[in-house]
Amino acid sequence: MMKVAVIGAGVMGSGIALCSIQAGYPTVLFDVNETALQRGMDYIQTQLKVALSKGKTTQEKVDAALLLLSATPNRETLVADFIIEAVLEQLPIKRELFQFLETINSEKTLFATNTSSIPITQIAAALKHPNRLVGVHFFNPAHIMKLVEVIKGVATDASSAEIAFNWSQSLGKTTVYAADAPGFIVNRVARHYYVESLKALEENVAPLQTIDRLLESSGFKMGPFKLMDLIGVDTNFSVTSSMFQQFHYDPKFRPNRIQQQKVEAGHHGRKTQRGFYTYED
Ligand SMILES: NC(=O)c1ccc[n+]([C@@H]2O[C@H](COP(=O)([O-])OP(=O)(O)OC[C@H]3O[C@@H](n4cnc5c(N)ncnc54)[C@H](O)[C@@H]3O)[C@@H](O)[C@H]2O)c1
Repeated sequence: MMKVAVIGAGVMGSGIALCSIQAGYPTVLFDVNETALQRGMDYIQTQLKVALSKGKTTQEKVDAALLLLSATPNRETLVADFIIEAVLEQLPIKRELFQFLETINSEKTLFATNTSSIPITQIAAALKHPNRLVGVHFFNPAHIMKLVEVIKGVATDASSAEIAFNWSQSLGKTTVYAADAPGFIVNRVARHYYVESLKALEENVAPLQTIDRLLESSGFKMGPFKLMDLIGVDTNFSVTSSMFQQFHYDPKFRPNRIQQQKVEAGHHGRKTQRGFYTYED
């Protein structure tokens, strides 16, 4: 069975590791921040308990999944067959990480990035073997949302993309190939849900609670401000900034000052208990 490593134990990494162990893959979780690593491990346990209490899994399956999970604070040990990263949405961090991982892994290891917006081609360009890097883009919460986009960069081998596609399918995901275009498919379309709502807030069209309520009552599962809090206000801002740049500063993707200030204040959403709304633990 393919050994999997998940790098970054935040909102997405912990959910991806959970999917991986539930599908039977021995999976190691790593984060540079030991508190985040522990939080990610706790999150996985809690989500399994929730699934058990809802009758969506059995105690035997939970026990089997947990036996496949391990955590490490030491990145020198990250040797695996399939390594997927979900670290901060910043090109230099992702590039440095894969450059390092290439030096300690075999030439057969496949690398994947969960980036929402950074071109796979740009991340891969820093690697000795850019053909082995593929985009595997989960949605939040990763263990619940069915869709995964698989993205080939210009240099990605078709066989690498196929392995990633099959891995995603084996997790029970609805998997689609997307081109290496800014924001791929879903984030490109969905960007305006956030950008336009922030613009409406900035222009005092309505309070954010009203905007959320109206969009929810018109059929969206979550209003844009609640959704940004779930995603991570910081992550959502980084994705908008990255797409703005990649679309050559097309104003329709312009990041918003209100969101930038939330990021600067450390109000990153649910993960910091404060974003557009406040949350109890
Ligand atoms: N949040 C979402 O809804 C969402 C959805 C799809 C994709 N993504 C993408 O997934 C990635 C992670 O997003 P997130 O929301 O999970 O972020 P997050 O802020 O919740 O978690 C990121 C984690 O990465 C860790 N980290 C930072 N640098 C690291 C490094 N060099 N090595 C190891 N760990 C490192 C941090 O300590 C943190 O725990 C981003 O690329 C983002 O665009 C996010």
